[in-house]
Amino acid sequence: MATLSMTVNGQPVGPHEVPDALPMVDYLNDVLGLTGTKFSCGIGVCHACVVIVDEPDGTSRTMRTCINGAMAFAGKSVRTVEGHAEGTTLSAVQQAFVDHFAFQCGYCTSGFVNEATALMERLEKTPVARSAVEATLQEALGEHICRCTGYVRYYEAMRDLILSRPELTVEG
Ligand code: FES
Ligand code: FES
Repeated sequence: MATLSMTVNGQPVGPHEVPDALPMVDYLNDVLGLTGTKFSCGIGVCHACVVIVDEPDGTSRTMRTCINGAMAFAGKSVRTVEGHAEGTTLSAVQQAFVDHFAFQCGYCTSGFVNEATALMERLEKTPVARSAVEATLQEALGEHICRCTGYVRYYEAMRDLILSRPELTVEG
């Protein structure tokens, strides 16, 4: 057993006594009751289970929670899908996915929301050429598998959202 504390969606959690090898997705689902993070393939392929990790230097990255143990997140600041909406107001990414009917069963959605949000935040710091938006989306979201095959509308939602925010792109 190990003692685990971290910050999740801005709130300190723990200390909790957890098995050394407890997967992060199980910690979120079973210990914290945050069931929005989904266990799908369980082998690191589909990316349905990603969360955002905010680093002390101000950068963020996504991490898979099925193949990374909860202890790998000890002391870190984590964002899950439960942390995006403010009350009943969805985040811009969430609202875009709803508006575009981007998902069906929704099992892949929290992963897409986290990855797309991290992408938006990167673009706020480093805009891309308008002609590179498609490639940027492919690079950011390309590893996310949707078993309902709803890719097109996720990509349409993000393309529209990015192009609706002039500060995220530059001419070219
Ligand atoms: S459930 Fe984690 S990558 Fe598929
Ligand atoms: S909406 Fe069902 S897996 Fe993507």
